[in-house]
Amino acid sequence: MAIIIDDQHRIFTLQTKNSTYQMKADAQNVLLHSYYGEKTDSSDKSLLYWRADRGFSGNPYEIGKLDRTYSMDSLAQEYSCFGTGDYRITSLRVQNKDGSQVSQLRYVGYEVQEGKYAIPGLPAVYAQNDEADTLILRLADPYSGLEVELYYGILTETDIITRAVKITNPGTDDLVLQKAASMNLDFEYGDFQWISFYGRHSMEMNFQKEHIHHGIQSVGSVRGSSSHQYNPFVILCEDGANETMGSCYGFSFVYSGEFLIEAEKDQLDRTRLICGIHPDNFSWTLSHGDSLWLPEVMMTYSGNGIGTISQNLHKTIREHVCRGKWKNKRRPILINNWEATYFNFTGEKLIEIAKQAKTLGIELFAMDDGWFGNRQNDDAALGDWFPNEEKLGCTLKELAERITAEGMQFGIWLEPEGISEDSDLYRSHPDWVVGAPGRKPCLSRCQWILDFSRTDVQDYMIERICNLLDGIPVSFVKWDCNRAICDKYSGMLDSSRQGEFAHRYVLGLYRVLEKLTEKFPEILFEGCGGGGGRFDAGMLYYTPQLWGSDTTDAIERLSIQYGASFGYPVSAMGTHVSMVPNHQTGRVTPLSTRGCVAMAGMFGYELDISKLSAEEKAEIKEQIALYKKYSDLIQNGDYYRISSPLEGMCTVWEIAHPSGKEALVSAVYHHVQANPAPIRVKVQGLNDEASYQLSLTENFKENYPNRRLPYGFGAGETITGAALKQVGFVVPEAANGFQAWQIYICAK
Ligand code: GLA
Repeated sequence: MAIIIDDQHRIFTLQTKNSTYQMKADAQNVLLHSYYGEKTDSSDKSLLYWRADRGFSGNPYEIGKLDRTYSMDSLAQEYSCFGTGDYRITSLRVQNKDGSQVSQLRYVGYEVQEGKYAIPGLPAVYAQNDEADTLILRLADPYSGLEVELYYGILTETDIITRAVKITNPGTDDLVLQKAASMNLDFEYGDFQWISFYGRHSMEMNFQKEHIHHGIQSVGSVRGSSSHQYNPFVILCEDGANETMGSCYGFSFVYSGEFLIEAEKDQLDRTRLICGIHPDNFSWTLSHGDSLWLPEVMMTYSGNGIGTISQNLHKTIREHVCRGKWKNKRRPILINNWEATYFNFTGEKLIEIAKQAKTLGIELFAMDDGWFGNRQNDDAALGDWFPNEEKLGCTLKELAERITAEGMQFGIWLEPEGISEDSDLYRSHPDWVVGAPGRKPCLSRCQWILDFSRTDVQDYMIERICNLLDGIPVSFVKWDCNRAICDKYSGMLDSSRQGEFAHRYVLGLYRVLEKLTEKFPEILFEGCGGGGGRFDAGMLYYTPQLWGSDTTDAIERLSIQYGASFGYPVSAMGTHVSMVPNHQTGRVTPLSTRGCVAMAGMFGYELDISKLSAEEKAEIKEQIALYKKYSDLIQNGDYYRISSPLEGMCTVWEIAHPSGKEALVSAVYHHVQANPAPIRVKVQGLNDEASYQLSLTENFKENYPNRRLPYGFGAGETITGAALKQVGFVVPEAANGFQAWQIYICAK
């Protein structure tokens, strides 16, 4: 049973396969957090907490004179609130009618539901009724009447507990939420390390690990979307935890807008973690009877290191976040014309690329930016979602039909949230641009943002895109958004409600995506935010893959993909082979290395085939055949980080079949040294007793002339799963700079 309730003592214990979570409503009706960690029994853990005199922290009036050990400032609470004696970072700050920002929450009841709750208008983990359970705990402020419902979804098998919050104002006076987080987690003990992912355009997802120190540390975004700068995903782990050892917690915010994840180590050396919508741009008025749902957080715990945190999230995102036809299906191998042509193309050129791509085994041609309106560069025409027939030399339908007649699927790039000053849409609807009255909003990539918080704008865009795509053989849509949002203001909101804009924008985006994915269930949607600027679990609910970064350099991609792998499955990221010298870095890497790195994602190409030599074309054919052969393993296997691109010489990752019958190990020498020390790979996820044969994959066999391969690769040489796990094998040496190897391991 996933939910154990001790009614007499009002203890709520949530059990997953390997973790336990516990709360208790105490005698004051405060909902305490008593435990989250390694699986244990359902006995009352709050009894193990120590209470000393906290007179200087403050004590609630009802109990202050009787018991000075009872303080909101030191109790581990399930959902903290502002203004009544808890001085730590807070999950809820509410402005009452009298202007005070004082609230207190007291437990009033619970409810258990079969299956996993859903959230209207917001992405959320979903599951069959026999895969998940829901617990709802009800809290209320006895003075203002404000009601807070804490939702818990328990997915036992993948060790996931989700949290979401619904806040309702049953009273007659307006209440204004100034901060309303989705999750508060108080750790009674804990010297933690905190892993987060920072970046910038073209260089997202950099791994960072620091100690949680006294004070407050945070990652977040006030950029309208989850951002290139910080990802809405963090890990807390005990000192010394690594990929395979130690207690770790993962927190992934299922939301694509502004967020704040903050941690405070307090005066008593305890850590509080809070995750939710960023409060800086947020305030939300709840009038009589209004409710607001706050977005979901996925939490997972592992006692066996960070690798398991990643695998739990990979499985959950693959199976319980991504939806639709493409969730488990092999994605088509695509070619995108962006780095091949940028804006400089004609319909004929595109057809030529598609034709040549077909001969190599590529399956889908994606037409990128520049096909609509008067779009010759990034300075104009965003919003004019009408094909430029002069440039294409035909209608969109004709182009799509000519490409599909070649045996290729056809895809199209859109950036519906963008609007150019020089566009017909702006000329006819200047009020649809996000911007404060009387001010010219800041430009970014020469463009503005359409006010997706407005229902009329959402409806217009749904209709425009439906009309555009209807009756045309389109199999793929890349949904881009190339700028952050500032100058936040919507003409549709009262001045007192402008704090609702950023969240309403995201709700609007989700509504549009929901309608379009519903209307076109066959189309594979790929999200994109100028690369990885909106790379989050929220978007993955609508688009099962996201373009990972505008950097296609294989070596830089190693660290971007390494960072992303901590929280997101291989199936979540689009990854392409591009030309050398690389357009972003000027680096030259072997085609085989570019192929190997791109195969750690949803594989494709982004180059001008007419500029390739016959040998390169032959090699691409081989890569494609290989990807097709291993695609199921790559897309649905268990992912292991073996060594990091941030240290040493060689980045290694492994994808193992869940049954342990096979694995694909990829190794890329990101640094080459003379007389190198051997790179040893300890393989995980195999069966101890089975014997395995190692081989270089077909595309690499000829790259190893006249050299001795390490043990395990020779005919008849086998290694047991136990030996591969404990001792490992040695990666063949690098013959040249940035050498890669793909190694297939198969049970005999
Ligand atoms: C963004 C995307 C690129 C490309 C361009 C087109 O930068 O990330 O892949 O589509 O826009 O303008």
